[in-house]
Amino acid sequence: MTKRKPIVAGNWKMFMGPEAGVELSNRLVHTYKSIAPLDVVICPPFVSMTEVGRVIEGTGICLGSQNIFWESNEGAYTGEVSAQMLSGWCDYVIVGHSERRHNFNETDAIVNKKVQAGLHYGINVIICVGESFAENSAGNTKDVVERQVRAAYRGVGHQEALQTVVAYEPIWAIGTGQASTPTVANKVCAEYVRGTLDNMYGHEVSSSVRIQYGGSINSKNILDFIEQSDIDGALIGGASLSAEDFSDILNSVGRHYLSD
Ligand code: PGA
Repeated sequence: MTKRKPIVAGNWKMFMGPEAGVELSNRLVHTYKSIAPLDVVICPPFVSMTEVGRVIEGTGICLGSQNIFWESNEGAYTGEVSAQMLSGWCDYVIVGHSERRHNFNETDAIVNKKVQAGLHYGINVIICVGESFAENSAGNTKDVVERQVRAAYRGVGHQEALQTVVAYEPIWAIGTGQASTPTVANKVCAEYVRGTLDNMYGHEVSSSVRIQYGGSINSKNILDFIEQSDIDGALIGGASLSAEDFSDILNSVGRHYLSD
């Protein structure tokens, strides 16, 4: 089996303005000591990115953006930030988070355009997919997740696909304290996400793309997820707002990687 380097990303959402963001990233830099090859990404709000970027520079912790606009260069788009503006200093961008799909009507087609914009400028894209509670209850998880994966990768070539990460986040598990069952989440990641990538791109790409689980991950349950065959990391909201909790999670993932 291909050994994939784990990736853990913290999505700060609309928390941590510049001052609080600097404080949190400073604490994280001092608390987290890397013990294994592990990609760590923090995604502050736009207003805090420059300052947080300075704090984490040279520490090995990567900077990510929570969003980008689909027009990749520049133009008359009030309030938007393009991939071109982020390229060179921002390593990752989160695209298709359910909070954006639902609060800002981001469709599969918009998600696809954003994926392409990020990749065009060499930014690694974390593509979020996941079903709602109603879709889950109706037994539609497979259909929803496969559709979202196919749509997000439309027009994306093999080489570019290698620059992506998929985050499987069942919507009902986000911010609820009610994480999915690790084995069930692994089935979604292995069969519906990796399986779809396998159909689209073949084994080389599908076995290399990293898949995260997201939704109520904390330092107590992270190991149960990271132990699964097809879960290569986590996308973390609430628990990434505490340097101590986030470090505990990173250390658990690192230790698991070393013992594997
Ligand atoms: P949570 O959020 O960890 O607070 O559940 C996850 C996410 O929205 O990415």
